[in-house]
Amino acid sequence: MSFTNQKLHFGAAYYPEHWSEERWSEDIRLMKAAGMTVVRMAEFAWSTLQSGPDNFNFDWLERAIDQLAAKGIDTVLGTPTAAPPAWLVQKYPDLLAVDESGRRVQFGNRCHYCVNSPEFHSASQQIVKAMADRFGDDPHVIGWQIDNEYNRVCYCERCQSLFQQYLQDKFVSLEALNEHWSTSYWSQTYSAWEQIPIPIGPHNPGLMLEFKHFISESYRKFQLMQLDILRPRLKPGVWVTHNFMGWYNGFDHYTLTKDLDLASWDWYVGSGYHDYLQSGAAHDLARGFKRRNFWLMETQPGNVNWSPLNNSLNKGEAHLMAWHAVAHGADAVLYWQWRSAPGGQEQYHGSLIDQSGQPRPFYAEAQQLGGEFKIASEWLAGSVVKTDVAMLNCYDSRWSIGWQRHHHDFDYVAHFNNYYRPLSAGNVNVDIISADEPLDGYKLVVAPSLLILNNKRIAQLKEFVKNGGCLVLTLRCGMKDDYNSLLPSRQPGSLAELAGLEVEEYYALHDPIPVVGDIFNGSSRLWAERLKLLDGNLTIPIARYGVCNGWLDDQAAVAVHQYGKGIVFYIGAYLDEFSQQALINHILLTAGISSIKTPSGIEVRTRVRTNGEELFFVLNHTRAEQTFSWPWPGVELLSGQVRTGEVKLAPYGVAILSKNAGDNPA
Ligand code: GAL
Repeated sequence: MSFTNQKLHFGAAYYPEHWSEERWSEDIRLMKAAGMTVVRMAEFAWSTLQSGPDNFNFDWLERAIDQLAAKGIDTVLGTPTAAPPAWLVQKYPDLLAVDESGRRVQFGNRCHYCVNSPEFHSASQQIVKAMADRFGDDPHVIGWQIDNEYNRVCYCERCQSLFQQYLQDKFVSLEALNEHWSTSYWSQTYSAWEQIPIPIGPHNPGLMLEFKHFISESYRKFQLMQLDILRPRLKPGVWVTHNFMGWYNGFDHYTLTKDLDLASWDWYVGSGYHDYLQSGAAHDLARGFKRRNFWLMETQPGNVNWSPLNNSLNKGEAHLMAWHAVAHGADAVLYWQWRSAPGGQEQYHGSLIDQSGQPRPFYAEAQQLGGEFKIASEWLAGSVVKTDVAMLNCYDSRWSIGWQRHHHDFDYVAHFNNYYRPLSAGNVNVDIISADEPLDGYKLVVAPSLLILNNKRIAQLKEFVKNGGCLVLTLRCGMKDDYNSLLPSRQPGSLAELAGLEVEEYYALHDPIPVVGDIFNGSSRLWAERLKLLDGNLTIPIARYGVCNGWLDDQAAVAVHQYGKGIVFYIGAYLDEFSQQALINHILLTAGISSIKTPSGIEVRTRVRTNGEELFFVLNHTRAEQTFSWPWPGVELLSGQVRTGEVKLAPYGVAILSKNAGDNPA
């Protein structure tokens, strides 16, 4: 079943249980007036839905769903398992998770559960089943969200013994485990499964990696348990998701999204203002989880309450951010939240309605967006983001590097973004996908710090280049195997044949060092690799280090190699912004990918409609008016005007343009 977007949804998280029912009609009137088409409800309502082991109360929720539906507003239901109620915790105190220091977490926040607790599983089964029985075929419930932002890691004894069982299933014999983890080092050899600890702080790299896999599998099982209850009870077309947290690194998101119908995520800026070159990557990451459009399940209406400085976004900024999300593949934008509860930990969080029940100033901005979504909805139905460019993301590589940074400032995601940003600044759409996904259809694949290699990855990358693809490998590539053990070869392992080189040595840099190339003259910071060219005729160095530590002086820093019908760039330097942009521009040209030049802060993205027509989103991320020259006569969707030549964009302004002057949405 494919869950194609037929509508661009707009809404908010709504907690009717915080207010008396008399208030609901006014809330719903205001939602309708703001153009809302959907609310998400119930993801923290467990104690209201079930006040004791056999006391269910779903009537209020049904009334809320019905009243919303009467005004044309659909519902996404959250399963409330992120907030196990006090009566349940009292009955099963060891349902509470244990933290790293061995302390049980306290009741009264959320996600306080041990994800592997059998009592928690059966209580979750009970509430999810009861909810699904009641609302699974409700025509107004269009989707379900399981739990809320998984994030807890439990260190209890039960988790430890399940971890040991997980290891036994995976390695079968202790000899194999000892071998893969090199446990003769520091006398770590295990002679019984029960001896294996849960890692606290730095530990054996193999053990640390498996613990991350175990956490991912634990959440997957918990989620599957809920999915198995939901699926048979939902009417066809109703999807199930979970709201992830962008680049959060607690588990492998590809493991968790595998079983879901669509991915969604929660985007908050926190302190400061949005940076579109960074947030674009987080949206593209979410789109890559299922390789299809996603929902922005929560976003910031003005300010948050949890940052060191909870400044409000500027007027117009959130409106632009919503369109930016849509331009990157969001099919829905929901604000968190409609109205703040009178009590509880989030009293100061931004919302659309204030504590007095009146719309905040931000409501008007949301209302504008609601009106625009209505106009654009038909145009965007079924449309998707298409691109020839993929970036490969790998949680194992990220974790491994994060635990052994070698330079404290080296961060996998920051280095990843050093490649994403110049692509995005050139207005090139990018898919961010798992390093294990097939690469068919791409012309350019960028694999930042693909530290962990296995045969499948090597074979896919070889095939891709052999058939004419352009591959970019970067520093820290090809160092380790799937067990987080060093490969018995120099970097980039078996990709050396592809890259036509090997890394003779890597250096964490105290200070930036010069890198001089055919295309740029800049510097490398944090890291530098000394490249040894293996294929004299076909590997060409295109940049070398300048005079620095002696070891790197005049050594190759960036090289390009022809392989099969394709080409491979190996980039051993961590280049400064300008050099990186110049190099990426060169790579785009080599790969035959066209970019669009825009003034700084102006973003252009495209979504392709079912009839093949491209819709262009032109987004002004600056606080100044900007002009952008538009080459074809085309309709600007929101105003209905035909535009050609110069398009003026107000501060934080948005224009959505079709290529055809005679266009209509049908
Ligand atoms: C999210 C969470 C919401 C709300 C929001 C506040 O992480 O899912 O329930 O707490 O943060 O910013």
